[in-house]
Amino acid sequence: MKRLLLVIFAIACAATAYAVEYANVIVPRPLSCEAIEGSFALTPKTTIRATLPSLVPTGEVFAADLEVVLGNKLVVKKSSAKKGAINLALNSALASEEYTLKITADGVWITGGSERAVFYGLQSLRQIVAASDITAAGTKISAVNIADKPHFAYRGGMLDVCRHIFTVDEVKRYIDILALHKINKFHWHLTEDQGWRIEIKRYPELSEVGAYRNQTLIGRNRKSKLYDGTRYGGVFTQDEVREVVAYASARYIDIIPEIEMPGHAVAALTTYPHLGCTGGPYEVWTRWGISENIFCAGKESTFEFIENVLTEVLELFPYKYIHIGGDEAPRAMWKQCPHCQKRIKDEGLRDEHQLQSYFMERVERWLNERGRSIIGWDEILQGGISKSATVMSWRGTKGGIAAAKLGNDVIMAPNTYCYIDYYQTSDPAANGEPLANGRRPVTLAKNYSLDPYAGLDEHQQKFIKGVQVNLWTEYVSTFDHVQHMLLPRLAALAETGWSYGNKDYADFSRRMHILRKLYDKQGFVYAPYFFNGIE
Ligand code: ACM
Ligand code: ZN
Repeated sequence: MKRLLLVIFAIACAATAYAVEYANVIVPRPLSCEAIEGSFALTPKTTIRATLPSLVPTGEVFAADLEVVLGNKLVVKKSSAKKGAINLALNSALASEEYTLKITADGVWITGGSERAVFYGLQSLRQIVAASDITAAGTKISAVNIADKPHFAYRGGMLDVCRHIFTVDEVKRYIDILALHKINKFHWHLTEDQGWRIEIKRYPELSEVGAYRNQTLIGRNRKSKLYDGTRYGGVFTQDEVREVVAYASARYIDIIPEIEMPGHAVAALTTYPHLGCTGGPYEVWTRWGISENIFCAGKESTFEFIENVLTEVLELFPYKYIHIGGDEAPRAMWKQCPHCQKRIKDEGLRDEHQLQSYFMERVERWLNERGRSIIGWDEILQGGISKSATVMSWRGTKGGIAAAKLGNDVIMAPNTYCYIDYYQTSDPAANGEPLANGRRPVTLAKNYSLDPYAGLDEHQQKFIKGVQVNLWTEYVSTFDHVQHMLLPRLAALAETGWSYGNKDYADFSRRMHILRKLYDKQGFVYAPYFFNGIE
């Protein structure tokens, strides 16, 4: 009897160890993940049962993603829950991004507070399946009980498509990568000195003039004097933008378009020189950096242009937030411009910093009247900001801290932790990293160590809405390179965004080596450094 008990105990331990090994694999780390005995046999005949019509599209996206992993596509049916199936259901007692995932020998049950939450449960299941031993006949996925919800409401990834442009399919792939990590915001940086990338029907010249530069700098900015002599550019048509918005929406990702003002506007000024203080001529920039040529804040025609552009932007992007830039706007032109100086006088402004506040607040008011809200880079704090603006802290966390202390909402995207255009190892030359930005590297561990609440008391912490990685593309011209910069650092950011308070770098590292298998199966490119033990 004693021996029998021992054998039973040993079998139970082995089963639990198996379950722990295969179930405790999810990135970002779930709130709770309890391994239970047994496993579910996932076969090509397993069906996905959507208990509500609204869950069918969510199941379809999952089935298509999982096909790449399994080699076969599971059928999605609108039906009541069934034993032996993957069952999707809603429960209004759960928060809108909260889900439970239960795997037993009898089936899989994913229940969410919304369709979005069910989608997150499915991403967890996808990771568990990819971590299991997959065979053509079927896959044994270990039993587990997961209860999960994110800490931060805003978990973002930004892509600059201006310094280099990417195809619609590549942008969708970027969104796929965000979705796997339960990121829910895609910040799409669409206008710049080096190229205007969104079709505006009222201003077709933006697509012909502003969208193209004559050539591109080769090598390091300020060091190199070499140019490639090749015209470069392109624009996303409104149909393409709509396609991307729909694609993101099916993956529960809101898109925040960024229309930069008053700086980073040379592409617009080249198209319409009267929008600048001097009247030009201007040339779409062929190198990187900060241009002194910015929108004139004195001329009414500037605001007319911006409002007309935003009118079309609002029709394309349904999400409440619009990013209106605000960073790196030198005051030199405004200081010399009679229109800008007259505006300062007429409006009773103290200086050019307040002129920028006038600019941003005027555009914000226009957007507020249309039911939208703004996000701006932390420079918008300089001359004072309205209560309703959300600050994206990029020059470290100090701007975000100051904004939270003022009672403004904040997204933490400090360059010191979240700029994934920066090098990713401590010795880029020795490790063979491609040319990148940043004096100090943002290693995976550095990114992981971000504490978005640091320096804030409990009340002020409430204003920190979330975190974001930013990928500027001065030195990133191919989509493989985009992914090399994005992965695996996006995973670290996702864990701060989703699992804040439940982070553990050693355990994250263990799970990343497992998630890598899914990256491989999906054909996602990732930087090798961390996986090779280099940071
Ligand atoms: C920025 O990196 N200039 C926002
Ligand atoms: Zn001016």
